[in-house]
Amino acid sequence: MVFRRRYRKLWLILHILSASAWIGIDVIVAVLVGVGFLSDDPGRRGLAYEALGTFIVWPMLVSGLLSLITGVVLGLGTKWGLIRYWWVAVKLVANVLLCTLILVLLRPGMPAVQAYGVRLSAGEDVSFDIPSLIMPPIVSLSLLTVATVLSVYKPWGRSDLLQRLVRGRGVS
Ligand code: HEM
Repeated sequence: MVFRRRYRKLWLILHILSASAWIGIDVIVAVLVGVGFLSDDPGRRGLAYEALGTFIVWPMLVSGLLSLITGVVLGLGTKWGLIRYWWVAVKLVANVLLCTLILVLLRPGMPAVQAYGVRLSAGEDVSFDIPSLIMPPIVSLSLLTVATVLSVYKPWGRSDLLQRLVRGRGVS
């Protein structure tokens, strides 16, 4: 199936918008984590953790899934395919990996982060073992930057992964 030009452009716009929203949300996370760690003001730190714990996960997951869905539609609807070219296959793996990490690693810790923020804002002297919050924005922003660079340069050519898989199973 190959798109008509008009539909391809429409899906491409949606794809770029969702990927950009995802990167923007990651930048907000990085800023909030930075304020949470570095500020001297407990009220401000509490607010940063509260915002992190309350607002971040779902918009991040939704933009990640939209990027995945629009990317898959574009892959299937153009000559690029899903695993026909390395640059698309790598982006597919990165996108699925990041969405899984959001659900499995990030989301479960958020209620505790929010509760910690609320108590800190209320002036309570709390010590709490915050799950490491620095890694998510670093890992995510790095992978999304790689994905953006891959999208623009489209390096490495064809992967022929499908043929290899079929050959590996002895089907010719
Ligand atoms: C990981 C997050 C992703 C980011 C940041 C991203 C970013 C981008 C960007 C900026 C473009 C526009 C490139 C250009 O027009 O020169 C693009 C195009 C494209 N993306 Fe993604 N993408 C991501 C995930 C995916 C996924 C998961 C797939 C499919 C499995 C995918 C498939 C495609 C395809 C096929 C195009 C080319 C569409 C065309 O030219 O018709 N992307 N992507």
